[in-house]
Amino acid sequence: MLKLICVCGARPNFMKIAPLMEAFRKTGKIHALLVHTGQHYDERMSKLFFQDLGIPTPDVNLEVGSASHAVQTADIMKAFEPVVIEHKPDWVVVVGDVNSTIACALVAVKLGVKVAHVEAGLRSNDRAMPEEINRLLTDAISDLLLVSDPSGLDALKREGAADEKVHYVGNVMIDTLLTHRARAAESPILDDLGLAPKKYAVITLHRPSNVDQRETLSAILDAFEAIGRDMPLVFPMHPRTRKNIAALGLGDRVAALTALKTPEPLGYLDFLRLTSEAALVLTDSGGVQEETTILKVPCLTLRENTERPATISDGTNRLVKPTKESILTAYRDILENPVDTTRAPKFWDGKAAERIAEVFLKLK
Ligand code: UD1
Ligand code: UDP
Repeated sequence: MLKLICVCGARPNFMKIAPLMEAFRKTGKIHALLVHTGQHYDERMSKLFFQDLGIPTPDVNLEVGSASHAVQTADIMKAFEPVVIEHKPDWVVVVGDVNSTIACALVAVKLGVKVAHVEAGLRSNDRAMPEEINRLLTDAISDLLLVSDPSGLDALKREGAADEKVHYVGNVMIDTLLTHRARAAESPILDDLGLAPKKYAVITLHRPSNVDQRETLSAILDAFEAIGRDMPLVFPMHPRTRKNIAALGLGDRVAALTALKTPEPLGYLDFLRLTSEAALVLTDSGGVQEETTILKVPCLTLRENTERPATISDGTNRLVKPTKESILTAYRDILENPVDTTRAPKFWDGKAAERIAEVFLKLK
C-alpha cells in the first residue's frame, strides 16, 4: 500500500484536496492521511467546506492560525515535522500556492520524503506576490509536478525540470465544480439575497495588491459604485478584506454603497450557485478565474497578470488594472461584446484527480 500525507490549510486548498482524497480512496491501493495546517480556521473559511464537499475529517490539525509570513510558515514547519516523522509516508502531497504548501513541502524534502505538487508550473512572473515565491520554491523541490494549466509545461521546461517528473493531469478545481454543480443548483442563495438570475455581479477580492492600500481599494470601490447604478453587486467578504476596510477607514464608504451586499464568506455550494447565475464576476481569486471559465460566466480579474493564462486564451477571463476607469471600460466592453464560450482548457473535465491517482499507481 502506498502511503501519502495530503496537506490542506487555506480555503482554496479544500476544493483541490476533496477530489484527490476520493480518487486515492477509490484505488484501494493508496492510503492517504489528511493534515490540515489550520492556516484558515474560521468556520466560514474552513469547516463549511468539509461539510459541503464531504472531505474526510483531517487525521491531524496543526492549528497554526494567522501570523506574519515568516512566523506562519515556520509554525507550520515546526508542527508538521513530527507528523511526518511519526507516519513515515512514501510521499507528501501539497496543492496550490499558499504558505502551507511551501512549508510542508520543505519539511518533507528535508526528511527525505518525496513531494508531489498539484498545480505545478503556474507562474505570474510577479515576485511581489507571496504565492509566486511559494510556487517557484515548491516546484524546485518537488519530485512530481502535476500540471493543471498548459502554460505550466513551458514554465517547468524553461526552469529545467526533468521531463519524467512532469505530468499534465488537468485541473482538480474543476473536478470539484463538476461533481457539485447539480447540488449547487438547489442552493437558495439567490432568494436569500433577493437576486434575479443574470441580473447581478459577484465580487471576490483578497489579494494584498488590491486590499492592503487605501488608494487602490478606494478606486475599486468607486468603480463598484458606478456598476451599482446598473445592477446589484454581491461581495462575500474575505476576512482579510473586511479587516482592511475597517483599518483603512473605508467602512462608512462601503456601508453607503446601497447596491453592494457584503455577506460573510459563503460555503462552496452557495458560492457556486451565485457565480453560475451571475451576469459577470469581478475577482482577484485564482480559483474563481478557473471556475468562471467552465461556467462560461464573463470574468474581470482585477490584476496586472495571471498565472492561469488558459482562463484567458480558452476561457472567459480578462485582466483589468485595478483603477476606476480601467474597470468601468472593461465592464462596459465585456457586456457589449460577449466572450467566446466555445472553448475550454485541456483536461478541465472532472477527471484530473483520477489521472493523479494513476500517476501514483504507475510509479516505479
Ligand atoms: C491566503 C493565501 C492566498 C490565498 C488565500 C485564499 C498565503 C501567503 N496566502 O491569503 O494565496 O489566495 O489565502 O483565501 O498563503 N483570517 C481570518 N480567519 C481565517 C483566516 C484568516 O480572520 O480563517 C484573517 C487574519 O486576520 C489573517 C488574514 O485573514 O491575518 C490573512 O490570512 P492569511 O492566511 O495570512 O492570508 P490570506 O490573505 O487569507
Ligand atoms: N469561494 C467560496 N466562497 C466564497 C468565495 C470563494 O466558496 O465566498 C471559493 C471559490 O469558489 C473557489 C475558492 O473559494 O473555489 C477560491 O478561493 P480563494 O479565492 O480564497 O483563493 P485563491 O483561489 O485566490 O487562492
